[in-house]
Amino acid sequence: MRKPIIAGNWKMNKTLAEAQSFAEAVKGNVPSNDVVDAVIGSPALFLAPLASNLEGTDVKLAAQNCYFENAGAFTGENSPAAIADLGVQYVIIGHSERREYFHETDEDINKKAKAIFANGMTPIFCCGESLETYEAGQTAEWIEGQITNGLVDLTAEQVSSMVIAYEPIWAIGTGKSADANIADEICGVVRSTVEKLYGSDVASKVRIQYGGSVKPENIAEYMAKENVDGALVGGASLEAESFLALLEAVK
Ligand code: 13P
Repeated sequence: MRKPIIAGNWKMNKTLAEAQSFAEAVKGNVPSNDVVDAVIGSPALFLAPLASNLEGTDVKLAAQNCYFENAGAFTGENSPAAIADLGVQYVIIGHSERREYFHETDEDINKKAKAIFANGMTPIFCCGESLETYEAGQTAEWIEGQITNGLVDLTAEQVSSMVIAYEPIWAIGTGKSADANIADEICGVVRSTVEKLYGSDVASKVRIQYGGSVKPENIAEYMAKENVDGALVGGASLEAESFLALLEAVK
């Protein structure tokens, strides 16, 4: 049985005071992590204070990115070793916004995945196609390519424990969520790609999220699907009430 994982991706939003008041509002109110993993993907600036605000609670933290080296002359980057040292458990990598605006390649993302595992954390590895690719009927090949290139040289044990988020770019922040059957079908493509690469045992363990205009009102439709184990949520994760409602809907 795969445990559901609901992760908020705050993107570049909130001040420290706003982040901390969110943490105060959710911390005693999330379902037990025996039932669901509740994760907040905060800007790196707030990870240290949030880690202390949320210590001992069922809320886990994710960074939204990291570099693939642990230390050195890489001005402006964040070290995965330093992130792990804060008690952060997850790092989102390969988000389409990073691929598009910051020119991250599959190879960069693969290096980041390895660095995240080397530091004892878990990647939330994002994949997803553009509207053009979707309309051309090339989604499956596109996703298969991103997964195959992104997982190069990861071990079966690593892939079993990671999280892969399928986020069609055309559904992100547009209010136009993918139909739950499409989400299930493409999350199924992710799973069958993992199966081709690593076998059925690994494919049955890897957790796959859908992301793109997920809200408290529609999350149950996705979670009811066989291949969807959770959601990666932008806009609807920004308010404590809405984040808690997403978690309530899956527990
Ligand atoms: P929205 O939920 O705002 O569409 O964002 C999805 C997303 O990009 C999460 O990573």
